[in-house]
Amino acid sequence: MPHASAPAKLILCGEHAVVYGRPAIAVPLSAVRASAEVCPGTAGSGLHLLAPDLGAAWIAADVPDNPLSELARTALARFGHANLDLSVTLRSAIPIASGMGSGAAIATALVRALAAAVGATPDPAEISMMVYASEQRFHGTPSGIDNTVVAFEQAIWFVRSRLAQTDAPPLAPLIEPISVGTPLTLVIGDTGVRSATRLPVAAVRAAWEADLPTYEGYFDAIGTLVTQARSALTTGDAPTLGHLLDTNQALLEQLGVSSPELERLIQVARQAGALGAKLSGAGWGGVMLALTTPSSAPTIAAALTNAGATHVFITELNESIISP
Ligand code: PMV
Repeated sequence: MPHASAPAKLILCGEHAVVYGRPAIAVPLSAVRASAEVCPGTAGSGLHLLAPDLGAAWIAADVPDNPLSELARTALARFGHANLDLSVTLRSAIPIASGMGSGAAIATALVRALAAAVGATPDPAEISMMVYASEQRFHGTPSGIDNTVVAFEQAIWFVRSRLAQTDAPPLAPLIEPISVGTPLTLVIGDTGVRSATRLPVAAVRAAWEADLPTYEGYFDAIGTLVTQARSALTTGDAPTLGHLLDTNQALLEQLGVSSPELERLIQVARQAGALGAKLSGAGWGGVMLALTTPSSAPTIAAALTNAGATHVFITELNESIISP
């Protein structure tokens, strides 16, 4: 049966400052994936979607406003097979609402599996565009980071246009693939604390408006370290990258988006031998990441579990691997 999967993503460095025009780096997490499996349906049954982990099952035509119904029907129409009787089972190991791109990964796995089922061969750019269009319809103005990292399964350099000071339409973001010199190991720990992205983003905005010079200084410092992190990634210089991640965490603490739970896990990872550690994503909860050596990763993962992390993942950052 056609089966396809797609990875989670994380922001490696540059979150928040990216909203103010500085660069950010996002990476795919190859070991943490969502998947979709397509089976033939009974004649006349239409397109069924099943999410057994959520206890959900529905007929796409009956719930047209569901984002996955809409994406599946759009994808099949685009591939020239609008009216098939299929049953698609979706699964995901990616914690939801944690900044790990679970929505984009499930959507990408769904499109890849449907393409495989009908013999279509969309390239990553086409899949990324379809997932972006779906996110845009249902979630307002996505940045484009998630669909790009997930569909290309490659580290990216991302620069959004400067925060709009006028009513002019925003410029398209700059998105470039980044090469990773040597495989690097990341350990991810989830605080289990869910926090809506918009809350810390709004708090940073209010603080920036109240004290522009200080916050522009923080954003400049983050922009500089993200540029250095790109070189360290490309050359595979893990110790330098680890140090830059620590510096980024200190600046995120200054921005006020860290939390005691995040700092506890970050501290535990450093004490267990991480080369560097920081929160990832919007903050006030969600996940932290630690850069480790391949051999120290299991020890650091165990330390995070003992410290109360609700999910712990070990994954390797590689050159682009587009895997079904
Ligand atoms: O929720 P995430 O992990 O995709 O990260 C949000 C990143 C921010 O820079 C805080 C906000 C943004 O829109 O870029």
